[in-house]
Amino acid sequence: MGSRLDRCRLIDLPRIQDARGNLTAIEGTGVTGFDIKRVYYLYDVPGGADRGAHAHRKLWQLVIAIMGSFDITLDDGNAKRTYQLNRGYQGLLICPYIWRELNNFSSGAVCLVLASEFYDPADYIRDYDVFLTAAKAQP
Ligand code: TYD
Repeated sequence: MGSRLDRCRLIDLPRIQDARGNLTAIEGTGVTGFDIKRVYYLYDVPGGADRGAHAHRKLWQLVIAIMGSFDITLDDGNAKRTYQLNRGYQGLLICPYIWRELNNFSSGAVCLVLASEFYDPADYIRDYDVFLTAAKAQP
């Protein structure tokens, strides 16, 4: 079995290309592997801002740069991997017990997140040392 970092991956989203503009639709579990319970998005992010800096216990997410670009660094407690997201037809799948940090937002960037669970503050791990201990205890 691969590492938890390997379970996070870029997914090519369906793309309907058209001279009038492209369209991407995501429904059911086919693309994400989970039922989408919540959608949120980050926008008007000031230059130099950092977002994220936490992990989740249960939550799966698919993160898409639907406008502009930003970087996401994923950390499973053993290794880190940084992705630059800049395409509306690519999503980064993030599994539980992954510490993530988002930065280098371009001007006007919009980060769309499809989430497997409703918002639950108890699902967050916001302390990195607590994350390291919890991540080690995971299979
Ligand atoms: P937070 O998760 O800290 O943002 P990020 O990790 O992307 O930098 O959330 C910022 C605030 O928004 C915090 O007060 C919780 C609130 N929030 C909701 O109310 N619902 C949500 O679905 C999310 C993701 C955040």
